[in-house]
Amino acid sequence: MNFLEQMKKRYTVKKYDPQGTISEEQIQTLKEILHLSPSSINSQPWNFVFVNNSETKEKLAEVSYFNKEKILDSSYLIVFQVIKNPEDFEKQIKENLPEGSINYYKTFVKPKGEVEIKSWLKHQVYLSLGVLLSACAMMEIDSTPMEGIENDKYDTILNNKKYESLFAVTIGVKSENDKNQPIHTPKKRLESKKIILEF
Ligand SMILES: Cc1cc2nc3c(=O)[nH]c(=O)nc-3n(C[C@H](O)[C@H](O)[C@H](O)COP(=O)(O)O)c2cc1C
Repeated sequence: MNFLEQMKKRYTVKKYDPQGTISEEQIQTLKEILHLSPSSINSQPWNFVFVNNSETKEKLAEVSYFNKEKILDSSYLIVFQVIKNPEDFEKQIKENLPEGSINYYKTFVKPKGEVEIKSWLKHQVYLSLGVLLSACAMMEIDSTPMEGIENDKYDTILNNKKYESLFAVTIGVKSENDKNQPIHTPKKRLESKKIILEF
């Protein structure tokens, strides 16, 4: 099936089949795809935490508001984190990026101050969410992006010192009873002509 058809088919899963599993091979593929995500100046200010351990998954589910059941019934929870401290970020790019990229950061991003730097870093992580959701669509893996999580509590549980949690994605196998499937709940989008413009 082509990509457009897969994008029509994909949707945000609201109910998973607790018996459903994702193969280790698929997980490895998703890890490689996330690793290849693009970012401004190749900044890569992220960590992707794959949570499969049931105890940790349960703890995170408890601090995920209305997303609790989805997390418990899904196969994996992937937590997307951003580097916390701009100084650590600068150290990372100094060690890994060519001078031109570092200069771009120093000239165009850094002078805007901490709030803007942090916002710019977060934008990069959100890009990787798009990459993951598209990959899941192509691979016919069911998924749910989730901002509805208690970020601070995620950070306490995961204890990944230099990174903080932004959002999470569950992946698994949808329940046949999931009312949010496009066959029951057709996709809603703004009219194409209102958002895709031509000049
Ligand atoms: C960044 C982001 C955060 C989201 N957070 C949640 C969430 O916490 N729980 C949930 O059930 N859906 C969440 N969604 C799903 C959106 O509501 C959904 O993508 C949108 O309504 C379009 O529907 P579709 O994905 O089924 O096409 C989120 C989506 C995105 C992109």
